[in-house]
Order: sequence, then structure tokens, then C-alpha cells
Amino acid sequence: MRALAIESSCDETSASIVELSENKISVISDVTATSLSLHATTGGIIPENAARMQVKYILRTIIEALNKSATKRLNSWEDARSTLENEVDAIAVTYGPGLIGSLLVGVETTKTLSYVLKKPIIPVNHLLGHLYANYIDRQQDEIRFPFIGLIVSGGHTDLLFFRKHEEFIWLGGTRDDAAGEAFDKTGRMLNLSYPAGPEIENRASRVEKTNIKFKSPIINEDNFDFSFSGLKTEVSRFIQQNPNMSEGLRNEVCHALQKAIFDVLLKKTLRAAKMYSCKTILVGGGVAANQTFRDILEEKALAQDANALFPEKKYSTDNASMIGAYALLNFKPIDWEKINADPELYFA
Ligand code: KG4
Ligand code: ZN
Repeated sequence: MRALAIESSCDETSASIVELSENKISVISDVTATSLSLHATTGGIIPENAARMQVKYILRTIIEALNKSATKRLNSWEDARSTLENEVDAIAVTYGPGLIGSLLVGVETTKTLSYVLKKPIIPVNHLLGHLYANYIDRQQDEIRFPFIGLIVSGGHTDLLFFRKHEEFIWLGGTRDDAAGEAFDKTGRMLNLSYPAGPEIENRASRVEKTNIKFKSPIINEDNFDFSFSGLKTEVSRFIQQNPNMSEGLRNEVCHALQKAIFDVLLKKTLRAAKMYSCKTILVGGGVAANQTFRDILEEKALAQDANALFPEKKYSTDNASMIGAYALLNFKPIDWEKINADPELYFA
């Protein structure tokens, strides 16, 4: 079975053709247009700018994804239509959470295509898509239930306990900033370009030892909650006290900051796995692209006889393939008239 998947919840416009066959999700094509360079100039995402770019790119992105997957080259809209009609069984789309203008671009385009071509629509929660990125290119039974899901993206930080597909409970999440947001906001204070996660990782990896220490908020609380907004205050105080920081010292700040964020993520995720007797931990979201985090979590999980799994790095950050993966493994089409973009969508 093949799905066209569409993701436009934040700054990316992404379309994929994803297939489920022989117990495995494969990506046939994945095309992502990003307006990140535009947002780098403003130091963050301006929602209206993001949506305007998505309106401009959504059809081109879909056509390109179809072109790459089609059995013959597309030369016209008619070719694209017949590829959709004959080679695609359903359309999956992110309907939340995210920026309302951006979500509407994907959702309304999907409804139109679905209506015209009579294809079922599967609306997907973007956050669950991040976890299901782990199913791409893996045999389904490699991922053993029950598992703990850790979502660490630019807007969300959540821990979930999954008994099986569609049967999960939310264990906890951030009370304020998300883990990725903590990277981005403190990165801005350090004059790093947006999004700051990759550069902070890179700078942190150049440091072997530092005396700088930032607190890992609520690390000792007996719950699965997180709080990262206090880190901004700590980093800002440090910058005020050290106005002329050398590059070496800036790297040390990055190292200490990354450690403070990861220590609490590691501790609570591993504790959740133990408490719920899970031998598998799935991680998803942009912060899951961090190699240092991957290495430490893998090692610590093994020490408690569990496996930490991550998506391939290109599927950790926003992409349509993860939306297709979720839709094919939780195939629940909904009438187009009942689907609405929901910027506040969470875990019902
Ligand atoms: O999942 P994502 O692509 O978008 C959202 O759904 O939010 O996540 C983007 C976030 C940004 O905050 C970015 O700084 C962070 O992921 N990120 C990283 C790394 N790569 C991206 N954080 C830490 N280390 C990285 N290598
Ligand atoms: Zn995301």
C-alpha cells in the first residue's frame, strides 16, 4: 500500500511517497522545501512568512515527490493526476499541532486532492509522526511493544508509554520551553544562527572538560515533567558576567548547556522505561538528530537491558515520510469534511 504524505506544520513544506510492504515502511520519494534561510535572517520563524512560502511551494513539492516515485516521468498535471490516481492509495496529512496558517496549507491541499481523486485521507498528529519515523526502513517487529516514546522537538518535549499502536498514555511533558526551544533561545543569546541545536552540538563536541555547570531543572522531581525556561536566565546571567567571551568559552557554555538539557531527558526517560518495564525506547524530533544524545542514551539504555532507537537523522527533523509511516501503520481514513487543522492538537 502506498500513501502520499504531506507535512507543513512549521517552516517546512514536505511531500513523500511512502510504502508499506512486507512488514516494512519504505520511502519511495521525499521532497522537502524549507524556508529556514529566510528565518535565519530574522532569528526565528515569523508564521506569516512561513505560510506564504508554503502556499508557493506546496504543489511543486507534491509534483516533485510524485515525479520521483512515478513509473514514468511526469510531463503535465494530467500525468501527475494519473500517477496519484493509479499509484497512490491514500493521502496522509499533518493536521496539528503547529502554526495555523502553515497547517491550513497542507490540510486544505489534501482535502482538495482527496475530493477530486476520491482518495481516503488519514489525518496525523505531527508529534506521533516524529516517533513513527523510527519505523522507516526497519522491520516492524524490530520495534517491540510496550515501548517508551520520547518526543524532543522545537516545540514539544513529551514522554509516552505505548502498549500497542494507538494505545498509549501520556506520562509527562514540558511545563514551559521545549528541549529544542532551549537550544534555540540560548543559541540566540550566544549569537548563533537559527536553529541553534546543530551548532551547539558541534561546539560542545570540541570541549573535553569545563567547570561551567548549569542546573538541570526539576531533575530530582518524582514525575515525568520537564522545564527548560530557567536555562535562559542562567545562560543570560553567565553572559552578563563574561561580556567578552572567547570562542573557547562560548564552546564551554554550549557544552554545559547541552549537558543540562540531556541529563534530565536521560534520567526521566530511563526511569520511565524501568517503571513501565519497557525494553524499547523510541526517540523522535529534531533534538534526536544530536549524536551525543544518541550515544549516551543508547549506552545507558543497554545498561538497563533496553534498546534506544532513533530514526535516521534526515527523518528526525520535520519531514513528510514520518507522517506517511504513521498513517500506513494506523490506517484510519476520515471524511474530508470532518478534518480541521488544529494548532493546539495534543494527546487526546
Ligand atoms: O522536530 P523539528 O524539526 O521541528 C519541530 O517539530 O519543532 O525540531 C527542530 C528542533 C530545533 O529546535 C533545533 O534546534 C533542534 O530541533 N535540533 C537539534 C539538533 N538538530 C536540530 N538540537 C540539538 N542537536 C541537534 N543536532
Ligand atoms: Zn517536528
